[in-house]
Amino acid sequence: MTKEFKRYTVTSALPYANGPVHIGHLAGVYVPADIYVRYLREKGKDVLFVGGSDEHGVPITIKAKNEGVTPQDIVNRYHGIIKKSFEDFGISFDIYSRTTSETHKKTAGDFFKKLYDKGKLIEKTSEQYYDQEAKQFLADRYIVGTCPKCNADGAYGDQCEACGTSLSPMDLVNPKSTLSGSAPVKKETKHWYLPLDKDEEFLKQWILEEHKEWKANVYGQCKSWLDAGLQPRAVSRDLNWGVPVPVEGAEGKVLYVWFDAPIGYISNTIEWAEQNGKDWKPYWQSNDTKLLHFIGKDNIVFHCIIFPSMLKGHGDFILPDNVPGNEFLNLENDKISTSRNWAVWLHEYLVDFPDKQDVLRYTLSANMPETKDNDFTWKDFQARNNSELVAILGNFVNRSTVLTQKYYNGKVPVLGELTNFDKETLAELLTFKEKIESSLESFRFREALKEAMNLARLGNKYLADTEPWIVVKTDEKRVETIMNISLQITANISIAFEPFLPFTTEKIRTILNIKKQNWDNLGSPNIIPAGHNIDKPFLLFDRIEDTDIEAQINKLLATKESNAANCKAAPAKEECAFDDFMKMDIRTATILEAERVPKTKKLLKLIVDTGIDKRTVVSGIAESYNPEDVIGKKVSILINLAPRNIKGIESQGMILMAENNKGELSFISPDKNFPNGSEVR
Ligand code: MF3
Ligand code: ZN
Repeated sequence: MTKEFKRYTVTSALPYANGPVHIGHLAGVYVPADIYVRYLREKGKDVLFVGGSDEHGVPITIKAKNEGVTPQDIVNRYHGIIKKSFEDFGISFDIYSRTTSETHKKTAGDFFKKLYDKGKLIEKTSEQYYDQEAKQFLADRYIVGTCPKCNADGAYGDQCEACGTSLSPMDLVNPKSTLSGSAPVKKETKHWYLPLDKDEEFLKQWILEEHKEWKANVYGQCKSWLDAGLQPRAVSRDLNWGVPVPVEGAEGKVLYVWFDAPIGYISNTIEWAEQNGKDWKPYWQSNDTKLLHFIGKDNIVFHCIIFPSMLKGHGDFILPDNVPGNEFLNLENDKISTSRNWAVWLHEYLVDFPDKQDVLRYTLSANMPETKDNDFTWKDFQARNNSELVAILGNFVNRSTVLTQKYYNGKVPVLGELTNFDKETLAELLTFKEKIESSLESFRFREALKEAMNLARLGNKYLADTEPWIVVKTDEKRVETIMNISLQITANISIAFEPFLPFTTEKIRTILNIKKQNWDNLGSPNIIPAGHNIDKPFLLFDRIEDTDIEAQINKLLATKESNAANCKAAPAKEECAFDDFMKMDIRTATILEAERVPKTKKLLKLIVDTGIDKRTVVSGIAESYNPEDVIGKKVSILINLAPRNIKGIESQGMILMAENNKGELSFISPDKNFPNGSEVR
């Protein structure tokens, strides 16, 4: 039996305000949440859709430091960009606020205080790394050192990026502070912990027994956390960016970002209520409210285990009814990555495809990573547009409205006597509501979208089978009925697609000259009365050409190439004494002649003017340079290298080359026209 709820509070993960948002964010979290919320609103439900930016945490402080600005500057910049992207794509938040708001600081501080006063937190002192020069404790990400597993340098205090191992700062060999470069010392510090272990039995019962209906990927992750056993979790940090810990003796300490961020949902609800003269409490404290968290898979433990434990400890709050978490979206077979710029950024998409929000919403919904990671490709995007949106949906709506204009000057004709085929079609029309509802209610958005598309297919089939353009020559009465039914299907389409393609359904309503419909009208054969005037039709979608897609693919290829070229430099070699360096006699020189060394791929035989003499050097540069291209080049040459015999040729010295990650070579040339033989030091 499903419980009847009086209202819905729908949250979507607060994105970190340290970068813009991309298609992965949309597909994983914001599009599904928005589909669900729009559906509820069409059903006339009392629903509150809460969003906002997550503006605390160490990565934001690091970005600020790198750019020489304040963390507040960083979050101001990205909060604005992110908020605009969501607006542009029709993500219909009732409130989109931020965790640096005053309301949030108070709400999060009070929340902590309440847990503290109720004795729900443990105080514990432990040793952490401290930078004596910078005079502060170091967040995990502020400490680098050698990985104990793979020996790579530059591993962070929380993870080695070379081998992927999760680390704790104390694991690092030779730790260094990234703030001052000095070696950190261990120092005692006090923190507050949420004793998750005490809630283990409760959580097992609540999730594993009482919420077996949660999505398998979410349920499975919860189960493996619970089976492994829960440990107390620190909820404070030594950091100067965040919500201050509101108890005595906590100077210089802030709430851990994952403690304050989910409370942001509540703070933002409070802000919304204040702005709209509403009471926020029922949305968070009434048992007849259905609370839902839309998130990505990396957020599951925080929303299913930690936040519920906080809410329960506090005592005044309801727990989520469901946590529809999605897996990840990949891009062209590769993980989306902000640092590698491997993403389709929403603000850039709209520059390249203006007014095509719904094409992206459609493609992302059709490929939503609901049960496993999924892939976005530009080819698929094009195919979805051309063979589904244009050829099926756009085509049907266009034909039904254009023919109405043509035959009846836009006036909706009367429904006459029904044929058996009409009756079958209308009977089928009646089945969509239930099918789409049941898919949406269980968060199967791809399936729901497919059904909505089948409604457009039904329309196309109806027109193809009834052929009004032929019948019109012999039986005008019959055509009136056909066009009436076609328009009713079109109106139904505007209802069914409203959650998915809000820009398009708005256009359909404009063409049909009708108001927003109630969801419960879905299936009805008389939404538009006879005699009603529809407006001038226009195309809902245009074809996307190969050249547009190639341009996007080339953009990604360029990213790949520049990443390969910029990829990490090789580690530094051992120290070398100054005297050893000075033994090398390096000079500027000019290449006079060049030819390939027969039967080799890499070697060129060069004659070089060193200013002192003209000599022969065999150089392994033939994969980067053709012989004719190097003649006349100014280069640097090590002239006192002991001669070596290479392929039967005596090589007298070595041309200095830089090599990138792809193995491409570049001459090290003086950038002024210096005479040959100038010394290089
Ligand atoms: N900023 C987090 C992320 O992007 C999500 C925070 S969700 C909230 O992974 F619950 F904390 F708000
Ligand atoms: Zn490693």
